[in-house]
Amino acid sequence: MLALYLLYVQHPNEPYIGNLILICWQHLCLSLGNKGSFRLCRRSEAGISQDGITDQQSPRRLIGWRPSQHLGRHLAKVCRAAEPTSETHTLDQGKKKASMSLIENCRSVTKDDIVIPDSSAVQQHKLPPLVSALKASAEENAASFHFPGHNRGRAAPSSLTQLIGVRPFLHDLPELPELDNLFTPEGPILDAQKEAAKLFGAFETWFLVGGSTCGIHAAVMATCSPGETLILPRNCHISATSAMVLSGALPKYISPAYNFDWDIAGGITPSQVEKAIKELEMEGQKAAAVFVTSPTYHGICSDVGSISQLCHSHEIPVIVDEAHGAHLGFHPQLPRSALHQGADLAVQSTHKVLCSLTQSSMLHVSGNLVDRERICRCLQNLQSTSPSYLLLASLDATRAQISENPKNFLTKQLNWLLR
Ligand SMILES: Cc1ncc(COP(=O)(O)O)c(C=O)c1O
Repeated sequence: MLALYLLYVQHPNEPYIGNLILICWQHLCLSLGNKGSFRLCRRSEAGISQDGITDQQSPRRLIGWRPSQHLGRHLAKVCRAAEPTSETHTLDQGKKKASMSLIENCRSVTKDDIVIPDSSAVQQHKLPPLVSALKASAEENAASFHFPGHNRGRAAPSSLTQLIGVRPFLHDLPELPELDNLFTPEGPILDAQKEAAKLFGAFETWFLVGGSTCGIHAAVMATCSPGETLILPRNCHISATSAMVLSGALPKYISPAYNFDWDIAGGITPSQVEKAIKELEMEGQKAAAVFVTSPTYHGICSDVGSISQLCHSHEIPVIVDEAHGAHLGFHPQLPRSALHQGADLAVQSTHKVLCSLTQSSMLHVSGNLVDRERICRCLQNLQSTSPSYLLLASLDATRAQISENPKNFLTKQLNWLLR
């Protein structure tokens, strides 16, 4: 650790050494029974020489074990000298200029402390809550001693920065306190999810970084225990099949009608669902949930309203795989969304028809047939503990994009299609 530290003092511009120190620090802390990770922030010129540690004022900001004041102070000074310089930065001249100007911009941030932005401030600046928090954090004049190893783009592979620039790396931040935590949200993620729930008509919405695949896994696991039966279409997406493997649920398949003119499968009908429920009842069983794919990959919608009514009369929750239908309900000529037709759980690939980044999706819940705590636990088991904030922010941004004009944001495209 000491050797690395001395190496760092001698080569302050080498981005990997900071990361190596972090790794050693964490191992040291772990061996002492703490989970260590820390970050130094150049608050202001005066602030650095006194204490460079960002978690000075709020206990929430203490990430793991705090380095001693002495080590913190010294590292902060080294970090100041460690900004990328023209001689040592790994990017080419053009990129160097761009990243230097970004860093210069960061210097103008004089805020003394990191704050979790409250939603009223966000409203004022008209930026969606999580986007706003990510922007503020990226602009912070901070030296990072945390993952990811590209160190806000300083160590990013040049083949990729040539393609997409450094800005995506600058905003590719981990679970910093001011960015909130996906699994216990109480700041900008909570605000962003609440806004999404309002827009999509849900009781509660969860942002997903593992696509609808993850949402479908969670929905089935939250409704079906091992050995219980799930009614679902025979042509369901593979994620529904793997959800049964994960949950231990047993399938009761419904075969959708086949349209030979179009050579595609249709949806499932309320009478098919009723028949499946009755057949199970005759065997002394009750379905744990009914799973509907609507729309299908080919755009076929089922009568989710009637299916929901029927299932609710048996107290059976309805899960809708709405991976291809995140846009439904946002134009008078489109079918209503699954939630607006009474579904209990709807999983939407926001990244498919809407405009968020690939892999970002949403899980919505409505009604009180499904235990929300159980959904949270399932999602925690299924999702990465290092969710991408770029994906999460893209969900927030997409929600804001629709919120600007929810009834007509697709008008131009639909008019063009229906011409
Ligand atoms: C009907 C259906 N459901 C679920 C999924 C899974 O969605 P994702 O790719 O967001 O995990 C897909 C993916 O194509 C799909 O077609």
